[in-house]
Amino acid sequence: MTVRVLTGINTTGTLHLGNYCGAIRPCIQASRRDDVESFFFMADLHALIKCQDPDRVELSRMQIAASWLAAGLDPDKVTFYRQSDIPEIPMLNWMFNCVCSKGLMNRAHAYKAVVDVNTAQNEDPDAGVNMGLFCYPILMAADILMFNANRVPVGRDQIQHLEMARDIATRFNNIYGASKEFFVMPYEQVDAELELLPGLDGRKMSKSYNNVIPLFDGGEKALRDAISRVVTDSKLPGEPKDPDSTSLTQIFDAFATPDERAAFRQELRDGLGWGEAKKRLADQINNEIGPMREKYEYYMSHTDELEDILMAGADKARKISKPFIEELYHAAGLRRFRSLEQSGTKKQQKRAAKPTFKQYRESDGKFYFKLADAAGKLLLQSVGFDSGKEAGMTVSAVKKGLTDELMALVRLADGVTMPEVQEAIDALNAE
Ligand code: TRP
Repeated sequence: MTVRVLTGINTTGTLHLGNYCGAIRPCIQASRRDDVESFFFMADLHALIKCQDPDRVELSRMQIAASWLAAGLDPDKVTFYRQSDIPEIPMLNWMFNCVCSKGLMNRAHAYKAVVDVNTAQNEDPDAGVNMGLFCYPILMAADILMFNANRVPVGRDQIQHLEMARDIATRFNNIYGASKEFFVMPYEQVDAELELLPGLDGRKMSKSYNNVIPLFDGGEKALRDAISRVVTDSKLPGEPKDPDSTSLTQIFDAFATPDERAAFRQELRDGLGWGEAKKRLADQINNEIGPMREKYEYYMSHTDELEDILMAGADKARKISKPFIEELYHAAGLRRFRSLEQSGTKKQQKRAAKPTFKQYRESDGKFYFKLADAAGKLLLQSVGFDSGKEAGMTVSAVKKGLTDELMALVRLADGVTMPEVQEAIDALNAE
């Protein structure tokens, strides 16, 4: 079975080595596998939320697209596009707006953080909050669910957005999915190790800490300049140094083999000067990204080619998104007029004649599922799970057969027998 992996990068600036080591490089590596189907995109609609400088948005989406390609992305192997070239995404965003409760968005960390700051400063709580920011997680859910991604590589700060995407998917499935679950549950992939690339000052490399080393922006000179600013102690050449006293070595690690790492550390212990160590680090990074920089500059000066690649990517993406949005519109009643006799309303009832698993969340905050037979009679009810993921994984397990272990997690409805449940599961599996 292939896994669908999808991720997007906001186009509000340029990329740094943290983005490269934490997202681009591992995503490109994974995209080469045959059992992975990748979707990578420029989140340029999201960019408008916090950047209303058209030139900056335009340049950033170009730079980020060129960076992906320069870093080795094969646009024929993956689906590579600009969010704004897929009109079905804002269409789905609207449908999600109408099934997502406002309360869910009130709880979003990103929005709450702004409100907290405003409140602390005695400002209007919503000062500076536009509706795009408030509804940010809904658009992100549309990005992910439009392509039914299974795995979404993101930073730790995005975990809540994935929970919300699952919440919205479940709600949509429950409302409109009588005959079919439209959306599969997407899960975040947070790689703690890759996330840890430290910046110049040892804290996580991040634009908001102003401690980044640019990936391609500014060329090799900017790379070397930034590296010269990595914080170290003031030991002189010849003095033994503690390799772990600076982020220099950790950044080196991200571009080196285990042998090279050990050798670098040993040289520092033996007294290698910081100036020379910084030069080694810059050379080491440049060995990997120098050749990429040439490609980057090529694309930045051949924007027609970049444009063609992205339009081909949009075509590929829309082969999926167009028919899918039609199906979703249809499910919501937005369909061609026909005689009521043969209209979808009746058909849907007919199609609904099979058992269904439903996943939902109760006011106790826990995640549940239940199984109903074709007539809608309740057969099986689960216990409450702490996460949607556990509930989802248990549903998948139950579909494969009810072991004793699983029986501890579910309860048969009153008067229901095991063969009845088994029959429903078999019917589902027979599809
Ligand atoms: N919110 C993500 C970030 O700030 C960017 C993003 C937008 C995204 N849409 C997405 C990531 C869909 C993964 C999937 O990093």
